[in-house]
Amino acid sequence: SPHSVGIFVGSLRKEAYSRRIATWLKSNAPASLVMNIVEIGALPLYDPDLDDGVVPVAWTRFREAVAAVDAVLFVTPEYNRSVPAALKNALDVGSRPYGASVWAGKPGAVVSVSPGGIGGFGANHHLRQSLVFLDVPTLQQPEVYLGHVDRLFDLSGDLTDENTHAFLTAFLAAFAAWTATNLRR
Ligand code: FNR
Repeated sequence: SPHSVGIFVGSLRKEAYSRRIATWLKSNAPASLVMNIVEIGALPLYDPDLDDGVVPVAWTRFREAVAAVDAVLFVTPEYNRSVPAALKNALDVGSRPYGASVWAGKPGAVVSVSPGGIGGFGANHHLRQSLVFLDVPTLQQPEVYLGHVDRLFDLSGDLTDENTHAFLTAFLAAFAAWTATNLRR
């Protein structure tokens, strides 16, 4: 049976390029992967005191959603050369309570996007630093830094650039193989 993948989109804006790329990846996933976006926008900021008291329902739902998937895919823009706070918050929420992280051992991959030329390299690698600690074995190659991402869509927002189609298709195949060989459960 196919493996399930949670997709985490680092931008909260409705027309986000990162969300468009995530949607394309979901629609073009190989048969061995079933991918769905797990929303991160409604998570209260992580506060350990809340885990010791009334745990926000949004945290519990999010932790359950991540626990339920086999693998994780991050599609994110770069904010100030790092990961957007909303995505870092989602990592933090899922990592606690101590000893109960829902990330541990799930195969993962990172896609960064930017209208700029550097393709979100800073966010991509700051995210990888957290994923090392969270024990998410993360796909190394191909690295995906989508620069000038704003030029890749048509007027209705569809990804039309054929070189990008080919590259992302190869990425998805690598991620499917990575997921199959690194599953821990
Ligand atoms: C940005 N942007 C940006 N771009 C980049 O390449 N490197 C950066 O460090 C930053 N920093 C940054 C900070 C903040 C607070 C914002 C709002 C934006 C620009 C960013 O890449 C652009 O807005 C993208 O369109 C955001 O991605 P989505 O929302 O389209 O997925």
